[in-house]
Amino acid sequence: MSNQTFTMIKPDAVKKGYTGAILDHIIKAGFHISAMKLTRLTTEKAGEFYAIHKERPFYQELVSFMSSGPIVAAILTKKNAVDEFRNLIGATDPAKAAEGTIRKLYADSVGENAVHGSDSDANAKIESDFFFTEKERF
Ligand code: RTP
Ligand code: MG
Repeated sequence: MSNQTFTMIKPDAVKKGYTGAILDHIIKAGFHISAMKLTRLTTEKAGEFYAIHKERPFYQELVSFMSSGPIVAAILTKKNAVDEFRNLIGATDPAKAAEGTIRKLYADSVGENAVHGSDSDANAKIESDFFFTEKERF
């Protein structure tokens, strides 16, 4: 699984019409889209997805935001995908994200930061399995 990562284009970016531009950025960076869907998380599902942050002060805000509108979920394939994609999206806080990164270009705040990227190979697998069956992967 080390050549795959999982991403979501978050509700803020979908709402603002950035889906196409962000996907273009991802493809031009050399990622292959192996699975993709437009969907909306219920509050329950968003809570489950971010359960790792349950004790953090921003958890309720995060769950409410992530279920506030449609998201685009995708599995991306590239050599060293997890690290390569974290570099492409930039720091969690867009104000601290490097020039040219997706969060620098398309995000406004640490809470509403346009994209999610898996932080490890193990989580990439868990998160991919959360959204996609084997038959939905190409
Ligand atoms: P992500 O999981 O979404 O790719 O983001 P990340 O690894 O860069 O950051 P992480 O620490 O995993 O935090 C998950 C998401 O929670 C929101 N957050 N809000 N208000 C805050 O201080 C705060 N800190 C984090 C962000 O939406 C972040 O992406
Ligand atoms: Mg994270």
